[in-house]
Amino acid sequence: MARIVILTGAGISAESGIRTFRASDGLWEEHRIEDVATPEGFARNPALVHRFYNQRRAAATAAEPNAAHRALARLEAAGAHQVLIVTQNVDDLHERAGSQNLIHMHGTLNGALCAACGHRWSAPAEMNKTQFCPACGKPATRPDIVWFGEMPYRMEEIWTALRAADLFVSIGTSGNVYPAAGFVADAMHAGVPTLELNLEPSQGTRMFDEARHGPATQVVPAWVDEMLCA
Ligand code: APR
Repeated sequence: MARIVILTGAGISAESGIRTFRASDGLWEEHRIEDVATPEGFARNPALVHRFYNQRRAAATAAEPNAAHRALARLEAAGAHQVLIVTQNVDDLHERAGSQNLIHMHGTLNGALCAACGHRWSAPAEMNKTQFCPACGKPATRPDIVWFGEMPYRMEEIWTALRAADLFVSIGTSGNVYPAAGFVADAMHAGVPTLELNLEPSQGTRMFDEARHGPATQVVPAWVDEMLCA
């Protein structure tokens, strides 16, 4: 049974109507990273940050998984391969498509985190700075999202799986943000074959053994069909 580690980014959810970050109509065209995606920005203006993530949470709730999400769930469910999805995305479209073995390395929109005691609980649809932590009672509620300058989640598990993989696949990510952007080099150094599935060449495209470019809803199901026929 081949062990496949699949990294996904905003591009896999683009055709579900969720905006990416660095496209011409991307989120970072309208919002300053410093204001909405750093602990310092949250300390300066928590209301602005909550408004940003409340809008994203509403957009994710209104969206539906697409053929690319469903194809990856199908690959896992077939049971012929050991599939681990490591997603940079904070939406829950992989779960709603049926994927089980999943790591949200940048957190989730559906999670709330207490900035005072570290307690986690399910996020309300609308989060604001007056909400109290159900554990310590402090008004220190923040989205359970990994911001710039913070360490992504479950990195030891991810690196261990990457080094032990038989194949590393990167889907819908531009390769701008580390440590995820470094996974292809980590895989390469561990002698793991690598494949890029993306709308266009990513920053690290030259490091991949193979790259296929096109919309995720086309290139991902086609690749999964190949894997299930192989
Ligand atoms: N199908 C496949 N790929 C697509 C599609 C599509 N329909 N639409 C866009 N893409 C590709 C783009 O070509 C681009 O390479 O998806 C990538 C999206 O890149 P970014 O917007 O940079 O998003 P991502 O790589 O996920 O960002 C990484 O940066 O902003 C932070 O924490 C945030 O997790 C995010 C991280």
